[in-house]
Amino acid sequence: MRFRSTRLFVGAAAAAAVCVLSTAALLGQAAPAQAPLTSDTAFKNVTMLKGLPVDTFFEAMGMFANAMGNDCTFCHDKQAYFDKSLFATQTPRMMRARQMMVMMNTINKTYFNGETRVTCFTCHQGNEQPKRVPNLALQYGEPIDDPNSMDLIPNDTFTAEETFTKYLNAIGGADRIAKVTSFVGKGSYSGFDTALSDIPVEIYSKAPEQMTLIVKTFAGDSIRVFDGQNGWMAGPDTPVPLVTLSGGNLERAKLEAMLWYPTPIRTAFPEWKVGLAILGDIDAHVVQGLIKGVPQANFYFDNAGVLVRVVTWTRTPVGIIPTQIDLEDYRDVGGVKVPFFRTVSQTYMQMKVHFKEIQANVPIPASRFAQPAPGTGAIRRTAQQ
Ligand code: HEC
Ligand code: HEC
Repeated sequence: MRFRSTRLFVGAAAAAAVCVLSTAALLGQAAPAQAPLTSDTAFKNVTMLKGLPVDTFFEAMGMFANAMGNDCTFCHDKQAYFDKSLFATQTPRMMRARQMMVMMNTINKTYFNGETRVTCFTCHQGNEQPKRVPNLALQYGEPIDDPNSMDLIPNDTFTAEETFTKYLNAIGGADRIAKVTSFVGKGSYSGFDTALSDIPVEIYSKAPEQMTLIVKTFAGDSIRVFDGQNGWMAGPDTPVPLVTLSGGNLERAKLEAMLWYPTPIRTAFPEWKVGLAILGDIDAHVVQGLIKGVPQANFYFDNAGVLVRVVTWTRTPVGIIPTQIDLEDYRDVGGVKVPFFRTVSQTYMQMKVHFKEIQANVPIPASRFAQPAPGTGAIRRTAQQ
């Protein structure tokens, strides 16, 4: 995959979800305190994807890049890497993409009750030229299953409840987990934005669900905060100076914060389904949380019962967009096993955070989880117009 341009928004550009099936406030009380800045306010040349929170808008752009199997400048001005205001410059491919949105919306409205059943990905699948001739290798070759699928094949050999119990026991047991009320850690961050080289990162986390991640970029601190209710991103790398998380991004920020003190996750969703999936050489047990029959998150457990992946989805006007969080290298901190290596993969960025040290029960001032000051923001000039 060639998502080079994702570097523009560093790891900081978190994603989003819109409210076709709004799940905000269902996982808990997560709902943004102030209305997030929307696409047509923040940007200049938005004629179709109007009124979307900025984080959701970037997920839609990530869907486009993913569907094309290319980076942002497949459609946008090549110089947009260096001057972000050039994202607004009209290009033939942007025009084409707008036509495609009209076509897609017509198909969905006419034949699928307005549900985003057919998306850019349905046809393109990572290819600028969707195929028209049947591929015999697909028919007769090895099937490739996507372990992140929303549609689990039902399995009755295990239950969600026993999977969570095994997991909590595998990482130290509910009693020990309950004794940890904070984590503070340091390590390295790498992403497209750093050309995959390591820069320092700090984590502050407080039970039950507050979390602040600070990436020390060359141009200044890039900060992501979830304060228990609201989420923000601010830094030199964010698409606007302060991104207020909304919809599915806010829900995911909450879930990520909960992962440090995971006991309540087993009751975070009203319904669960289970299934199996192959993750590399792991036959993973998958537990899926649902709300009103709609899948919200897949949790993947390895043979030892440890959580190795979480997949969540956000809903945008151009379809459902996944985020994958991989958890590796569990080590003991204060009697509890904590993953020291996390990879977050989204359609428009991927970040890896490798902690070198994490300490438990270190006091953290409340100000660590306050709304961050607006950063310089990548597209500030546009945002101010
Ligand atoms: C398939 C083509 C395509 C790809 C790939 C694409 N975009 Fe876009 N982009 C568009 C279109 C079309 C619009 C205008 C949307 C509208 O009119 O509602 C747009 C608008 C934007 C804008 C608003 C610019 C302004 O000031 O008005 C930004 C910022 C942006 N895209 C960023 C990105 C980023 C970042 C990526 C890569 C993750 C990306 N785009 C990938 C087609 C694309
Ligand atoms: C129903 C199938 C279908 C859907 C849905 C679809 N496309 Fe396409 N798209 C095509 C086909 C077919 C072409 C023509 C490819 C060719 O020239 O061979 C195309 C071409 C394009 C091109 C021009 C590529 C180039 O080579 O310059 C862009 C850009 C594009 N699509 C973007 C999108 C975006 C963005 C979406 C989602 C909003 C989307 N498409 C949804 C079928 C689809």
